[in-house]
Amino acid sequence: MSRQFRIAPSILSANFAKLGQEVTDVIASGADIIHFDVMDNHYVPNLTIGPLVCESLRPVTDAIIDVHLMVKPVDRIIPDFAKAGANIITFHPEASEHIDRTLGLIKECGCKAGLVFNPATSLSYLDYVMDKVDMILLMSVNPGFGGQKFIPETLNKTRAVRQRIDASGRDIWLEVDGGVKVDNIAEVARAGADVFVAGSAIFGAAKDSDANRYNSVLAAMRAELAKA
Ligand code: DX5
Ligand code: ZN
Repeated sequence: MSRQFRIAPSILSANFAKLGQEVTDVIASGADIIHFDVMDNHYVPNLTIGPLVCESLRPVTDAIIDVHLMVKPVDRIIPDFAKAGANIITFHPEASEHIDRTLGLIKECGCKAGLVFNPATSLSYLDYVMDKVDMILLMSVNPGFGGQKFIPETLNKTRAVRQRIDASGRDIWLEVDGGVKVDNIAEVARAGADVFVAGSAIFGAAKDSDANRYNSVLAAMRAELAKA
């Protein structure tokens, strides 16, 4: 299969007291993308990090910063993340009154844009915007917390989105987020995903004996992806 697989560690599970080092280590260990979870204690019942933290991390890495907005409303904060160095910004359609406008705003700010689907959210939100999305993010847990169990129905949804992307002929990345680990990453890839978010599975597997702390777990994920 010629699809390029990208691994996106979610820094939600990193050690926030040394976040810059965590980002450096995980990229040096072979990760591709930094997944940046933004929660507002309103759209989701948890509170995390904002544009200031993105701005602080930007000089630390050349890797793509993939900002997953779990906030409502979304539009006000988008230019701030673009200025802070985000490369991709995704949002939940339920959190925007004007989805097409929000996608346009992200692009005007110079970032790639994407929609995020909760486990029970219909894919019909894609019907009229396939030409405007660069990324489709499927939640395989309910958003708000790291370390939850993968919801298996996501595999059917992933297959459905893969068909839509292939039919569109566009280069749209298909990312799956929540409960992804060494044991199931190949299955998620076979369903059609090409970007894999993993928080607890990566940051919980640090090894002081690894040169960059996360080499073993990332190598194990790559080995699984090679079988997909
Ligand atoms: C959940 C976040 C995820 C989360 C994934 O709301 O969007 O990115 O950090 O964590 P794990 O991989 O531990 O399920
Ligand atoms: Zn996320």
